[in-house]
Amino acid sequence: MKEIRGNVIVGQSGGPTAVINSSLVGVYKTARDRGAKIVYGMLHGIQGLLESRVVDLSDHIKSDLDIELLKRTPSSYLGSCRFKLPEIHEDQEIYKKIFHILDDMEIEYFFYIGGNDSMDTIKKLSDYSILNGSRIRFMGVPKTIDNDLAATDHTPGYGSAAKYIGSITKEVIRDGLVYDQQNVTLIEIMGRNAGWLTGAAALAKCEDCEGPDMIFLPEIPFDIEEFMNKIAGLHKQKKSVVVAISEGIRVEDGRYVCELTDNVDYVDAFGHRQLTGTARYLASRIARETGCKTRAIEFSSLQRCASHMVSRVDITEAYQVGGAAVKAAFEGETGKMVILKRISDDPYICVTDIYDVHKVANIEKKVPREWINEAGDYVTEEFLNYLRPLIQAELTPIMTDGLPRHLYCKNNKNQ
Ligand code: F6P
Repeated sequence: MKEIRGNVIVGQSGGPTAVINSSLVGVYKTARDRGAKIVYGMLHGIQGLLESRVVDLSDHIKSDLDIELLKRTPSSYLGSCRFKLPEIHEDQEIYKKIFHILDDMEIEYFFYIGGNDSMDTIKKLSDYSILNGSRIRFMGVPKTIDNDLAATDHTPGYGSAAKYIGSITKEVIRDGLVYDQQNVTLIEIMGRNAGWLTGAAALAKCEDCEGPDMIFLPEIPFDIEEFMNKIAGLHKQKKSVVVAISEGIRVEDGRYVCELTDNVDYVDAFGHRQLTGTARYLASRIARETGCKTRAIEFSSLQRCASHMVSRVDITEAYQVGGAAVKAAFEGETGKMVILKRISDDPYICVTDIYDVHKVANIEKKVPREWINEAGDYVTEEFLNYLRPLIQAELTPIMTDGLPRHLYCKNNKNQ
């Protein structure tokens, strides 16, 4: 007979991915299967919890079809937030309020699916809980397309975004070849200060495609003059040039290239500037200085939620990390994040483990220098060997009337 457990709450935080709801299902199903009484969902993460905006997930997930739909639904079903908790010594009131709300709901287990900012929330809540003798257990479930979380081999969300980027980069390259005329296409890819996602553009280089001509990651300072010279050099050899550029590239003095445009002011609660406009800025500069036809394509939010092209490896692991978090918390763990540990590349074998969240929160894992070529304008074969297993296989969407069908949350006021 299964043991009866206390109540569970789960939230989603930070930027969305194509598979974050698979982790939500992993938490929900594992918790229910292992005896949790009620599994609540926070609407818009900790920010919604502060206003007691929660739902009972069993009112939302009623059938096996709902489970399959939710797994395949992109973006955060419960809604998300970018909300930074103060340091515990700075403001106890907000913690008192959160624990009061959790105690009223008889919560014993708290799960937060997110990236390094979200792990900061788990770290602070678990510290407060221990300091104040609460029995609530706090666990982090990793997620981010940026793949910049420390300690884990990779993060759920990354493989699917990388698969999409590799695929559409191939299509952009094909498109650029259509006219017998010089042209430059600059592709701007997310990932903030880490180049994991931008490096995925190199997947396009394969038997039937020569791949992008250059790839610039934020790990290497960006020299605009050198970049212009390289474009000119490439145009001596070929007409259509395609370059992948990370949204987070910076010039030598530390400024983001997109800041040179002076048109982005938005900064979130964690102090992250919205990065956009890098490709546009560089494309305009090429057009102005050379007269060449240019096109700037910002993949932007398209690359985060392309659930029609998820990696089966990724969506399966997203489910597993949710389940592993529940198992660990039910066994008494707190203040930890689930990590993925790669056992081998070929065959690809990866297992879950848990890791101290204090050693993960707010740390950005960058692409190692040796996985970037010497010239700083492409990734190496080692990078691709690391990435390729993560994009393998597909999970077909459930199609209705020619389009993928999603499960949406009727309680989420923004929907
Ligand atoms: O953290 C994931 C991410 O998609 C980054 O790659 C990107 O810089 C950021 O989120 C954008 O965040 P927002 O959706 O809050 O503008």
